[in-house]
Amino acid sequence: MIKIAVLGYGTVGSGVVELIERNGALLKERAGEEIVIKYILDLRDFPGDPYEDKIIHDYGTILEDSQISILCEVMGGVGAAYRFTKQALEAGKSVCTSNKELVAKHGAELLAIAERMHCNYMFEASVAGGIPIIRTINSVLLADRVESVTGILNGTTNYILTKMEKENADYGEVLRQAQELGYAERNPEADVEGLDAGRKIAILADMLTGKNVDPDKIATEGISKITTADFACAKAAGMTIKLLARCSVSEDGSACVRVAPYMLALEHPLGRVDDVFNGIQVTCGMLGDALFGGKGAGKLPTASAVAADVMDCAMHPGKTVMRAWSEEAAVMGDMTEMKSRFFVRTKASARDAVLEAFAGSTPVTAEGAEDAGFFTPAMREREFQAICSQLGDAVLNRIRLL
Ligand code: HSE
Repeated sequence: MIKIAVLGYGTVGSGVVELIERNGALLKERAGEEIVIKYILDLRDFPGDPYEDKIIHDYGTILEDSQISILCEVMGGVGAAYRFTKQALEAGKSVCTSNKELVAKHGAELLAIAERMHCNYMFEASVAGGIPIIRTINSVLLADRVESVTGILNGTTNYILTKMEKENADYGEVLRQAQELGYAERNPEADVEGLDAGRKIAILADMLTGKNVDPDKIATEGISKITTADFACAKAAGMTIKLLARCSVSEDGSACVRVAPYMLALEHPLGRVDDVFNGIQVTCGMLGDALFGGKGAGKLPTASAVAADVMDCAMHPGKTVMRAWSEEAAVMGDMTEMKSRFFVRTKASARDAVLEAFAGSTPVTAEGAEDAGFFTPAMREREFQAICSQLGDAVLNRIRLL
């Protein structure tokens, strides 16, 4: 019998408990031993809950209990979650987490401790919830070189953008609806300003480079400036707008990492990943392109990934299965040198000036639009910014093309 503890009895924590209860027989058959939840740590009491007797408030009880070999850290944050994880790993107990903020910030250190203590720090659920992307990069693609990853890694913003596209709805109005439905947090900044996707792509970039990518150094733009006028132009060109998190690694090991809205063709594999779904395109030297999609958030999809990590730990006692990345900072590529095409929306009065400034650009005309839209030729980021500065407030918005 393998006894585990769940830290945090919120959405994901209760999902892990439910999954282990519902799939108990399957887990026992596959792991060869029964997996039993001995403790659930939470600040709150849960009177009347079927697992009320397992709720404890003192982390020391879990740490000192030699029967506990695996913990699920699903409490979030980088305060107590960091301390508890570090203490558990130092004690040789494996930790499985959905906490992207903690993995992005302290993953290198925590993985090094796990390696030293011959246990595991597992984090499948931290990126794209239930989609098996971490294990894929860690082990399935072990013989290949992953050159780039492009993903829709945030369900909340994907829901908002899908609604804006399909219902011609205003950003603020859809955000309010998403909050009412419980998709978006009351303080939606981490989602809508791209920080959540930034943490997730930082983790993938850590894995791709083998070094530490600081999430605070990732070029990050959110979706709050996207308007229905941008979508009208995208539609006129057979395109859509998605918040993409991207990481590409050069042969010299340097990484270019960005989170930003992109315009992409509707027929692109990520073009019809809609609503709260996530999608990830992985490009490898040998395999070529591979696509992953599914539910990137939610109680049971996320719990499915956490519980699979628990199984991996249970089936490999004394063996570290996750490859660590170094605490050394990854070399970041010069983002101003990156080339792309851009969509630019300007005041109609600036049409001629824009066509002259962006030589070779193609106009895009949306029905009934007040503004002028253009697609520039491929150009370096710094050249593009310089021209936009010259045009000043005539430029209303700009979006990179994928
Ligand atoms: N807020 C996140 C999202 C939850 O919308 O994708 C899952 O990480």
